[in-house]
Amino acid sequence: MRPPGARYSVAPLPSDAFQRPLRSLRISVTDRCNLRCSYCMPEENYVWLPRSDILSFEETARLVDALVGLGVDEVRITGGEPLLRQDLDVLVRLLAARPGLRDVSLTTNGVLLPQHAEPLRAAGLRRVTVSLDTLQRERFRRLTRRDDLERVLAGIDAALAAGFDRVKLNTVVLGGSNDDEVADILQFARARGLEVRFIEYMDVGGATQWAHHAVVPAPAILAAIETRFGRVQPDRDPRGSAPAQRYVLDDGTVFGVIASTTQPFCGACDRARLTADGSLFTCLYARAGVDLRALLRGGASDAELTARIADAWHRRTDRGAEERLRLAAERRPFADVGELRRTPHLEMHTRGG
Ligand code: GTP
Ligand code: 5AD
Ligand code: SF4
Repeated sequence: MRPPGARYSVAPLPSDAFQRPLRSLRISVTDRCNLRCSYCMPEENYVWLPRSDILSFEETARLVDALVGLGVDEVRITGGEPLLRQDLDVLVRLLAARPGLRDVSLTTNGVLLPQHAEPLRAAGLRRVTVSLDTLQRERFRRLTRRDDLERVLAGIDAALAAGFDRVKLNTVVLGGSNDDEVADILQFARARGLEVRFIEYMDVGGATQWAHHAVVPAPAILAAIETRFGRVQPDRDPRGSAPAQRYVLDDGTVFGVIASTTQPFCGACDRARLTADGSLFTCLYARAGVDLRALLRGGASDAELTARIADAWHRRTDRGAEERLRLAAERRPFADVGELRRTPHLEMHTRGG
């Protein structure tokens, strides 16, 4: 029998049409969320994926093995909110046992981290990123439509106490909303030894309230930091395919800026996304994915699964964020509510934030 994670592809690893390798995979384990962040889920009602379509952990692991055979060596678990998925530690254990995976990480909103941090660490999770957009209770309530800031802060403490290799924060900077908190959030992160990444507001599917005026471009984020903390210098380590440009303060504090909206990094993008119901997307902005669930449940062999994924990657020409940038003043939300209802896979919370 094939050991878990063994590479069964003997063909050369595929590059896409622009010579980009496949290295990184984001697995959305649920499309559900317990918050309603204004930049992701601003609507009152959503169309959810049918429960019977959600992949079992064994099905997910089988697809992961095929992807590892094609070059994937890091997996990030996302959602929706991944901690809403029952027994997530079972999936983490399955993934952590794959020798081909050098990194298994999780992006969470932190609300359920107080009870899950420890078991996830014990299951082999290496790194956690927590979304934190404000330190103000009332603003958190307005931004997420839930009064859960205290729990998120407790979740961050729990992650620190659980001994992960690394805990990071993600902050989406929204003009006229939380942009006055950039320096405060960096101070919060600095005091705890956390690396925070400030993210430009992206016009992804689901961001139906996106507008130019609410994007705070990277230079403005850096200016706010310089005003409070003094000199900011770009980190000397090469950035590679990472979305974040890292910066260093004079006291050694490191933080990142993810300028996906104004300075896309499609040229180096090596990531694929797997939705909870088994569709593979090769770009955050892709309109269509590959239905791997149908293949999987239709009895496809490992070799057939691998061939289908390799073919999709080989044909990949996606440069979604660059194409969005070229729209310039014509740039509007990626999809309207009607389209999102008809095609929930367009939603960021479905394809993996
Ligand atoms: P590390 O493994 O810790 O370096 O994670 P990461 O830098 O990949 O960060 P994370 O997965 O937390 O993603 C941070 C943010 O980057 C996301 O929330 C998005 O805003 C943005 N991002 C992630 N993936 C993509 C992508 O495929 N394309 C674009 N344009 N932006 C992305
Ligand atoms: N713009 C930027 N980042 C977003 N995310 C979700 N929606 C958006 C958006 N419109 C990212 C945030 C959040 C993660 C789960 O998904 O970084 O922390
Ligand atoms: Fe917010 Fe993440 Fe939930 Fe979207 S999936 S509403 S970004 S917590």
